[in-house]
Amino acid sequence: MAKDNTQMVNEEMQQTIYKELGYKSYPFPFTTPAYLEAYGTLVGLKPPTAKTARVLELGATYGGNIISQAAHNPEATFVGIELSQDQVEKGNKIIGDAKLDNVSLVQGDILNFDESMGNFDYIIAHGFYSWISDEMKDKLLDIISNHLADNGIAYVSYNTYPGWHTMEEVRQLMLFANRGHDESTHKEKVLRGKTVGSLVGAQILNYDNLKERNSKFLGALRSVMQKDDYYVGHDHLEPHNDPCYLYQFNDHLKANNLAYVGDADLTLSMVRTYDESIADKLQQLAPNSQADQEQYLDFMLDTTFRKSIICKASAAKDISYAVSNPAEVNTIPVRTAINNFTFQILFDEEALEMFENSLVKDTFQALIKDGGTFNMIEALAILKAAHEVANASDDELEPAVCSLYKAVVEHMVRGGIRFYKTFPEKQEYMEGLSYVPTRFTNLVKAIADGGSEYIYGGNSFNDAIGDISEEDLMFMELLNKPKSKSTLTKKIKDTIFSADKSQTGKHQNAMAEAFYNELTKRMGDLGFLRNKKTDGIS
Ligand SMILES: C[S@@+](CC[C@H](N)C(=O)[O-])C[C@H]1O[C@@H](n2cnc3c(N)ncnc32)[C@H](O)[C@@H]1O
Repeated sequence: MAKDNTQMVNEEMQQTIYKELGYKSYPFPFTTPAYLEAYGTLVGLKPPTAKTARVLELGATYGGNIISQAAHNPEATFVGIELSQDQVEKGNKIIGDAKLDNVSLVQGDILNFDESMGNFDYIIAHGFYSWISDEMKDKLLDIISNHLADNGIAYVSYNTYPGWHTMEEVRQLMLFANRGHDESTHKEKVLRGKTVGSLVGAQILNYDNLKERNSKFLGALRSVMQKDDYYVGHDHLEPHNDPCYLYQFNDHLKANNLAYVGDADLTLSMVRTYDESIADKLQQLAPNSQADQEQYLDFMLDTTFRKSIICKASAAKDISYAVSNPAEVNTIPVRTAINNFTFQILFDEEALEMFENSLVKDTFQALIKDGGTFNMIEALAILKAAHEVANASDDELEPAVCSLYKAVVEHMVRGGIRFYKTFPEKQEYMEGLSYVPTRFTNLVKAIADGGSEYIYGGNSFNDAIGDISEEDLMFMELLNKPKSKSTLTKKIKDTIFSADKSQTGKHQNAMAEAFYNELTKRMGDLGFLRNKKTDGIS
């Protein structure tokens, strides 16, 4: 497909912005096959298994979203397509240094998508749809429509209206401030935009009536001023920033034989779980359309960003939102669906006060103490034991079970409990059995040795790890096979603490032990440990 001049100038400008301002590529937990598989299952779809998934990411930059996933999911394969040669080279260097053979970045324009790439179980385009031309938007959905497996799931995120109307005022202010400054670098343009933005904001703040009238604009201005320069450069100075309403996105999906499933952020899709009154209103306004109900919700919430989950139109007949209705949570089909999952609790013991039912509260307390990973069989066993210990009457058990299911669903929707059908591998440290497989050590080494300029590493859930250090790497190399605590603490003492002659040997031992305790826990939390079943201590 031939490109016109404006398109080429825009692309060039986009690439210069990336070069000048830099860009750090993040892992995103909402985009993993494990999350998308669980989401699809929750609403009645039958998505491909995450463990062996074929995943395609469009607009992958340096690969920060898929590189760590590849290390955590060695049986899955990941391909990222990215226009920028520079980003692809840097990302592929990290992949090469990490010696990962199940992930690659391919330089290319999606307009020239290689049709021979075949089908994918999951297709991701994060922060892409609203940053490209209409022609590319069409092509993006065309690729999803033609290359997604029949039961596959796609994820597309984008800036959205109505929230972005106010953001657009800030963008226009920044563009206006830079009018006539074509010779400036993008760094200078961001600085000029931010300086002018602060000045305008400060003037508004001087007058109470203006402050009140422009409160939304001030809020948007404040949030932009606080963002990193590279982010402001991309959102506010790139040639394309073209938000849309959810209903427009949904129309575009329909035109491509695709169907809207829901938002990766369940609070935008499963309102009834946490607010029956709003849900009733949405139901009245759009009785037959989930997407239209969510569009009305966006008007109420002034939503600025959407993370849409999509399936093929032919698969959409199976979608059910029954789980979001508290009145249906304790029906057999919904309980059966919930029983499919393994959960991870993200809230801590301080939050337990929110549970009214004391047996449910006790259950969550025990689950948190045990590390927070659970399935419903385990949770129900704990609940029954708590019921016995409390000497409660038989009549109290079934209501407590119902409350437990409701609480689990409510916090899945609110984001306090993660749910997976294929739970990301994560093992607790066991002395003499746990070790760090080489693929994780290689990944962390590749990131520590320069990769961190371009990407963040991710844990097994694909949350960014912001603080990978030389000490992590040293410990991972040390724990390349199961070892005894005494072997490890001696090595730690010799490597890190024995040089400090101001400390007594006893103190050095204590510090080595504290380091060992911290790092073994950290490795387990990050999902970098595997446990050997039969190997002995070496
Ligand atoms: C806003 S960034 C988002 C990147 C990444 N997904 C993230 O969320 O961090 C969009 C990326 O898409 C790339 N891109 C733009 N047009 C493209 C095209 N036609 N084909 C492939 N990649 C493209 C850009 O170079 C850029 O790296």
